[in-house]
Amino acid sequence: MTEELVGVERRGDVCVLMLRRPDKLNALSTAVEVALGHALASEELRTSRAVVIAGEGRAFSAGADVTEFRDATPASILAYYRDTGDVYERFAALSQPTVAAIHGWCVGGGLELALAADFRVADESAVFRLPEVAIGIIPSSGGTHRLVRLLGSARAKELVFLRERVDAAEAFRLGLVTEVVPRGFALERALELAVGLAELPSLALSLAKQAIDAMGEASREAGLLIERVAYAALAQTPHAQDAVDAFVSGQGSSGDSGGGGSA
Ligand code: COA
Repeated sequence: MTEELVGVERRGDVCVLMLRRPDKLNALSTAVEVALGHALASEELRTSRAVVIAGEGRAFSAGADVTEFRDATPASILAYYRDTGDVYERFAALSQPTVAAIHGWCVGGGLELALAADFRVADESAVFRLPEVAIGIIPSSGGTHRLVRLLGSARAKELVFLRERVDAAEAFRLGLVTEVVPRGFALERALELAVGLAELPSLALSLAKQAIDAMGEASREAGLLIERVAYAALAQTPHAQDAVDAFVSGQGSSGDSGGGGSA
């Protein structure tokens, strides 16, 4: 039953996750989050080289299921984060590159889910909104943290406190989305992007993703160490060695022997 709420489909090396609760604008109920958790653990996803997440129907997602907010207590909310509420972090922590394909409403927890992806492709119908403060709560699926990282604290406050709606063009100007495409083409473009990402050396891409994600919290020294250790781990891989061999043999007798030893 819960599996039906999130479709998992392989298209070559890309795994497509489809939120499937269109009658409720893909509101992220506990059952949807459980299904998303199962999708993240599935064989189809684990063996893929890139992941796309999208929503069925007329929205990406209208956010947390507001009908589940009633009677929440501090204890039940903490239990929620232990049980299903950390699925946004599990999505963000995937070693593969991830792309959110956004159309229609992208609200509250739906936007927080999209923010947990590496790239956000929106079509011209996309509308972004964080209504939490207006309804007496706060974005709490990693959204405030990611927004500050992505946009800076003033822009994050503007979105969280003040904005009724942000359209796709403005979301692009703000840096909230990485690309805007014509209406109806978000999934197609996200897939195209994912196919390109899936063709890159997966170990290098995964380490680059993890290094970049860690940089926001790393000191300069730790950041440089992460880079250097990652390079040391990657330099001897067949991909890196083959690329060097191909370059060196391509140079042939050109006589140019300059260059350093770094990646
Ligand atoms: N949780 C539960 N159900 C939701 C929902 C949510 N977050 N968002 C939409 N739905 C349901 C509606 O209740 C409605 O169900 P019904 O047809 O059985 O009555 C259906 O999805 C369609 O929504 P509707 O409000 O009719 O669509 P709309 O296009 O007029 O408005 C929104 C779209 C997103 C502006 C509006 O649905 C909305 O404000 N939703 C709540 C957003 C929210 O507060 N999210 C939580 C943030 S923490």
